[in-house]
Amino acid sequence: MKEELEKIHQDCQVALALAKKESEISDIRIQVLGRKGSLTQLLKRLATLPEGERKEIGRRANEIKQALETKVEEALRQIQERERKEALEREKIDVTLPGRRMAIGTRHPLTQILDEIIHIFSRLGFEVVEGPEVELDYYNFEALNIPKGHPAREMQATFFISEDVVLRTHTSPVQVRTMERKRPPVRVICPGAVYRCDSDPTHSPMFHQVEGLLVDRGITFSDLKGVLTVFVHQMFGKETKLRFRPSFFPFTEPSAEIDIECFICGGTGCSVCSGTGWLEILGSGMVDPAVYRFVDYDPEEVTGFAFGMGIERIAMLKYGINDIRLFFTNDLRFLKQF
Ligand code: FA5
Ligand code: MG
Repeated sequence: MKEELEKIHQDCQVALALAKKESEISDIRIQVLGRKGSLTQLLKRLATLPEGERKEIGRRANEIKQALETKVEEALRQIQERERKEALEREKIDVTLPGRRMAIGTRHPLTQILDEIIHIFSRLGFEVVEGPEVELDYYNFEALNIPKGHPAREMQATFFISEDVVLRTHTSPVQVRTMERKRPPVRVICPGAVYRCDSDPTHSPMFHQVEGLLVDRGITFSDLKGVLTVFVHQMFGKETKLRFRPSFFPFTEPSAEIDIECFICGGTGCSVCSGTGWLEILGSGMVDPAVYRFVDYDPEEVTGFAFGMGIERIAMLKYGINDIRLFFTNDLRFLKQF
C-alpha cells in the first residue's frame, strides 16, 4: 500500500505539471482527491492495516493529501493568472492611435447652388412654391400666351405624355398656378426639374430652373433690374459685370435676357462664350397682360416681373464646369470636390 500511495503522489504531480487547462486540473482533482478518487479510496482502506503500519502510512497519506491539495490550488491559480495575462494582451487597445473617420457625404453641387439662390431671394422677401413636373399643356403653354400651333412652341422641344399633358419644359407654369391661387401682392420663387428634348455639353434633357414672380401695384422694369442685379452680385460677386439684352418670351413684354461677363476670358471672347465675352444666365421680363387675363388679375391695377434661370448653368459658371452631364453621372471624384 505504501508503494501504491507514492505512485498516486507521483502520477498526480506529473499530471498536474502537464495540465494546461482549468478543466484538466479539475479532472485530476476529482480522480485523486474526489469522493471516489484514488487517494480517498486508499485512505478508506487504511483501517484494514495492522496498527503500526496504519499509523505510518496514514500520516504519510495525509501529508500527501495536503501537498496535493496545495499543488492543485497552485496550478489553478497559475492557469488563471496566465489566462488573464493572455486576455489582456489580446484585448490591448492603443489609445494613441488616430481615430477612424466616418465617411460623410457632401451635398450635391446643384443642391448647394439652389440653397444659395433660395437664401438670396428669401432675404428679398420671396417665398418658395412648387408645381408638378407632369403638367397640363394649358399651364405649360396656353395660359402663358403660347396657343396651340404658335411658332413659340418650337423654342422648347417638348416631351409629350399625351396631346394635353407634357413634361414641363420650364418652371413658368408655376407662375400661373400661383396667380390662380393667390391675389396680389405675389412674391415667389419656384425651383424644380424641367425637361426638354435636348442633349449636348451645355444642354441636358432633364435640368433645373428657378422661376421668380413678383406682382404688385406699381412694379416697373427698374424693380426687375434692381432685384436681378442684387441677385447676380450676391451670387457671383460684387465685381461681376452684367448686361440686360433685349429678348422675346410670349409671356413677358418687354423681355430681357441677362448675361454675365465670361468667367473664362474675362470678356475678351473665347470658345466658352462663343467669342462674345458674355454668358447668358437667365430670361426675364414684365409679365404680359395677356397672362393676367388667364388668372383674372386686372392689368390696369397690377404689374409685375418674372424671370427663369437654369441652375446647372449657374453652377457651371460659378465652378467653371464645362460639361453639364457631370452633374448627373454621379462620379464621386467629381462630386467630392464640392
Ligand atoms: C425659359 O425657360 C423661360 N421660361 C424663362 C423665363 C421665365 C423668361 C420667366 C421670362 C420670364 P429659356 O428657354 O431661355 O427660357 O431657359 C431659361 C434658362 O434655362 C436658360 O437661360 C438656361 O440657363 C437654362 N436651360 C435651357 N435649356 C437648358 C438645357 N437643355 N439644359 C440646361 N439648362 C438649360
Ligand atoms: Mg434662352
